[in-house]
Amino acid sequence: MDWPKGIGGLCYGGDYNPEQWPEEVWKEDVALMRRAGVNLVSVGVFSWARLEPSPGSYDFAWLDRVLDLLHGAGVRVNLATPTASPPPWFGLAHPDALTVTADGTRLTHGSRDTYCVSAPAYREASARIAGELARRYRGHPALAMWHVHNEYGTGCHCDHAAAAFRTWLRDRYGTLDALNDAWTGSFWSQHHSAWEQVMPPRATRYLPNPAQALDFRRFLSDEMLAHFREQKAVLREHTPDVPVTTNFVFGDWVPVDHRRWAAETDLVAVDHYPAADPPQETAFAADLARGWAGGRPWLLMEQAVVTYTGSRMIAKRPGEITRLSLSHIARGSRGVMFFQWRASRGGAELWHGGMVPHAGEDSRIFREITELGALLPSLEEACRAPVEAGAAVLWDAEAGWALQAPGLPSTGLDHTGTVRQAHRVLYRGGVTADVVHPSADLSAYRLVLVPALYLISDDDTANLRRHVEGGGTLVVTYLSGVADPCARVRTGGYPGALRDLLGIRVEEFHPLPPGTALALTGPGGEDLGTGTFWSEHVHLEGAEAPARYGTPVPAPGIGPHDAGWGAGAALHGLPAITRHRYGAGTALYVSTRLSDADLSRLLGLEPSPLELVRRGEWVFAVNHGDDEQQVPDGPLLPPGGYAVRRARQG
Ligand code: GLA
Repeated sequence: MDWPKGIGGLCYGGDYNPEQWPEEVWKEDVALMRRAGVNLVSVGVFSWARLEPSPGSYDFAWLDRVLDLLHGAGVRVNLATPTASPPPWFGLAHPDALTVTADGTRLTHGSRDTYCVSAPAYREASARIAGELARRYRGHPALAMWHVHNEYGTGCHCDHAAAAFRTWLRDRYGTLDALNDAWTGSFWSQHHSAWEQVMPPRATRYLPNPAQALDFRRFLSDEMLAHFREQKAVLREHTPDVPVTTNFVFGDWVPVDHRRWAAETDLVAVDHYPAADPPQETAFAADLARGWAGGRPWLLMEQAVVTYTGSRMIAKRPGEITRLSLSHIARGSRGVMFFQWRASRGGAELWHGGMVPHAGEDSRIFREITELGALLPSLEEACRAPVEAGAAVLWDAEAGWALQAPGLPSTGLDHTGTVRQAHRVLYRGGVTADVVHPSADLSAYRLVLVPALYLISDDDTANLRRHVEGGGTLVVTYLSGVADPCARVRTGGYPGALRDLLGIRVEEFHPLPPGTALALTGPGGEDLGTGTFWSEHVHLEGAEAPARYGTPVPAPGIGPHDAGWGAGAALHGLPAITRHRYGAGTALYVSTRLSDADLSRLLGLEPSPLELVRRGEWVFAVNHGDDEQQVPDGPLLPPGGYAVRRARQG
């Protein structure tokens, strides 16, 4: 049960919010959906206030008509539980269930996601509305899948959250002694002598406890998962044959460990909004989603017809909607869905675009949407074989959260950013990579990259060791393996857990002042580029040094005695990149930040704007560049062109 009921091939559609429109528009909607080849829409995501206008009184008549209309048009329904946006009456009836921020402010209704996931009233109301929907629509022929909630990721610091956090901590640690040990309670008099003293990380005087902050994120992830599970159980009870999913959001701000959640969804579904570099960000998101799905089908549930950059909403280039959609499909998505079907004319997201834009059907966007809908069925065969990935990049939500603590040796430390760089370099070099957790089975990969994996468990360390012993190559970057799962340093020299595997011992870190660089030189004095941002005093303990720190290049205005610079300069002649034979494989260590070009050279790659993904005998090729590109043994692709073909086709 891992695919929307009644859909054999790829899914195509988007969020459909008919409650925002008069009924005469609905008829036009379904006619246009048919024209565009839409076969699945997500309905009711934010409709709680319309479904339950006052506590316990329900109005399903309008939704009945919507589902019947869609069914008549052959469009199947991914029916949402509306719990991401409780109605205004809910907050007035249950003020204790509204979000409290870390600084103690209680939020009020007026946006969305304003609830505490630990508040009993919210949990009860969520299960109740999910149950009402399930009872009402369990026999409806359009029902294809359940879409629980929307983009889980909102935390709360209220007393309900505090109580639930304590329960979670008791389950995790058993005793206060174990908690005090894990949180290093002996530092700054933070030793707890009763559970009631334990708090969520609320606003405090100076640096907060990093282990407490990390555990609070773990707790929030599990707490939201409990909310998802409760709804899933209710839905399952009434509709045992309908898959249940929720749409995952990308971004370090969400305290959700999607990899753990993935196993609890029948289908992994993700939302993705690339910003600065859409082709590369799309490839990264799709490869990460595939990693979460662990080989199961997954679905791009929401993307936009425009590009949101944070400061502007930019029209996509001609053909870009199709190219990015193709990239998702090539990398494993079994469909393409959008936020949203029809662009809203009011409300907070009226400028977020739609498959039917404000201009209506006579528009470039709707024409491209219709072309994409016509293309998708022809891709089904090519999507059957698994995506072939020769490399893996390791990403761990918890390691990323740990690097968000204040008080680290440098600001700007960023696990996900470093993972993205590693993935970007492989992507531009034509290597399809899986983005997977450090505990994943690594036996299929020749090359595994470990970018700034600050926190690592003993089991995951053993997994990396097995990969190298078995003949694989591991490339580890600075600040990996340093801390244990409680964010405590592994003492005796960095990179703690990985010292013997890498054959090195790092004595000191030397973060570099912004704009400064250290030249990197090979054994024969050859120029191997520069290191920036970070450097380390590395001792060889079995490894060799293919690159050493050379001449320092200070930023303008930085002198030899300025903080940070003097220490960086002291590394002259010491190892910068190391290589260690271990078992049948090789483990490299990069103790500084390399540019994309230097990392690409280290990995022996040649950048190209042509995206190539192989799946069995099929090749997906997308030219994201401004020049023609030759597909190996295939056609010459014009700028923006694409081809999906059998590899050995003439
Ligand atoms: C996400 C959300 C949608 C909407 C869009 C905005 O996908 O799930 O509800 O907010 O972002 O583009």
